[in-house]
Amino acid sequence: MAREQWNSQLGFVLAAVGSAIGLGNIWRFSYMAYQYGGGAFLVPYVVALLTAGIPLLLLEFSMGHERGGSAPLAFARIDRRFEAVGWWAVTFVMFGIVLYYTVIIAWCLNYCVYSAGLAWGPDPNDFFFKQYLQLSQNPLELGGIRAPVFISTAVIWFLNWLIVFRGIGRGIEIANKIFMPILFVITTGLVIWALTLDGASEGIAAYLYPDFSKIAKLNVWIDAYSQIFFTLSLGFGIMVAYASYLPAKADLTRGAVLTGVINSMFSLMAGFGVFAVLGFMAHAKGLPVAKVVSQSIGLAFVAYPQAMSIMPGGQVFGIIFFASLVVAGLSSSISIIEAFAAAIMDKFALNRRFVVTALCILGFIGSAVFTTRAGLLWLDIVDHMLTHYGLVTVGLLECILGAWVFGIKKLRLHINAVSSIHLPRIWEHLIRFFIPVVLGLMLAGDIIADCKKPYGGYSCFAIVMIGLNWIVFTLIVAVVLTKRPWRYDYMLHLKEKQG
Ligand code: PHE
Repeated sequence: MAREQWNSQLGFVLAAVGSAIGLGNIWRFSYMAYQYGGGAFLVPYVVALLTAGIPLLLLEFSMGHERGGSAPLAFARIDRRFEAVGWWAVTFVMFGIVLYYTVIIAWCLNYCVYSAGLAWGPDPNDFFFKQYLQLSQNPLELGGIRAPVFISTAVIWFLNWLIVFRGIGRGIEIANKIFMPILFVITTGLVIWALTLDGASEGIAAYLYPDFSKIAKLNVWIDAYSQIFFTLSLGFGIMVAYASYLPAKADLTRGAVLTGVINSMFSLMAGFGVFAVLGFMAHAKGLPVAKVVSQSIGLAFVAYPQAMSIMPGGQVFGIIFFASLVVAGLSSSISIIEAFAAAIMDKFALNRRFVVTALCILGFIGSAVFTTRAGLLWLDIVDHMLTHYGLVTVGLLECILGAWVFGIKKLRLHINAVSSIHLPRIWEHLIRFFIPVVLGLMLAGDIIADCKKPYGGYSCFAIVMIGLNWIVFTLIVAVVLTKRPWRYDYMLHLKEKQG
């Protein structure tokens, strides 16, 4: 059976951008920039994009494209022993990250509705944690499922299913061709709106004021690299799968540069909106900006609702803001499901509709634990373990596989044979030496920090039971899937392709 294909190069780039732009761009980047020297943070951030983000994106694109398969197939076609690495990557995103990622999108969906009536009232903090999530005291106290969260999680899984079920060209490509323009338009609108608020300029000044003394620290650089890996969805096998659906002639370098640049521009722009709103709030309360900033969940579900309550037209602002998070989130979650579905279809030659339906049902069941009263705590622990250890380990092994086992020069020649922008030799050195060293440093830093003090102040027992066991469980799944026989000679189509 012929492999599915994107209908156009643009469709592929939009899908890659859709995967890259997610919740992280809106609430993680802006806070990181603010905390690490404002405008000065752009130096490590851009350096990380150029020396690791785009190069690793190209490595994943070229492995998927040249070997013609999802991560497990592409890796097995290089060296059978690396098949398990591919499986692990797609397993810990499918049976880890996407299970809670969809729940966060579900919160945004609920908040889209709540915005219409500013349902959080005078105390959004109390509303979010005590009334909406009814957060339990510790992660081992599940406390039952929260119905509103559970119901909207079901809606999000249904939407994921609807898109991925229809396949590459008719599902994922069309969805991104609709989602991405909408996302750019509404985000631009929100940013312009935010900039007109009183006090916006104070927020922007806090966001961008360059403090070069901050970037002299090693950890700022490591965090910049880690943000780049996460935001470009690297080390998850996603970009490998997406590139495997390209036709033989496909402009890989242009695709990687466009994806990297559009994703970072989006983050930078979203940061203007975030800080304009924070500036407005600080101004209204007569506080310095430093007193009102927060990140991630606190930003979206506490600080922003506070601002909406006092802003003219806050309801409309809220609906649009949360809708944009839903759109950004969905275009990322479909990429995760596709990465795993592609791997199963490649290995077991099963029908897409069956695979996607089964996966979405399993995924929805798996999400249930994150819809309980302890959901936020579980999410925090699992997220820490998987994005820190999973992503970094896979990235490292991917570099070894591409550079040392397959031969980095062959990959570069392949890229240059199909692309318009010529990829210089320095790329080989980056993949061979530089990026593995950066990833190794990140891994060592995380291990040391986590050994010194259990992450996030949770008990060691909770971290081992939830976080570590999650890693062990996904590893077992990966090994089991690796051990199953291939339904077809897995080298077959590659031989055909190469004539
Ligand atoms: N890149 C996405 C973001 O910045 C996150 C993501 C992680 C997407 C894993 C897909 C897979 O939010």
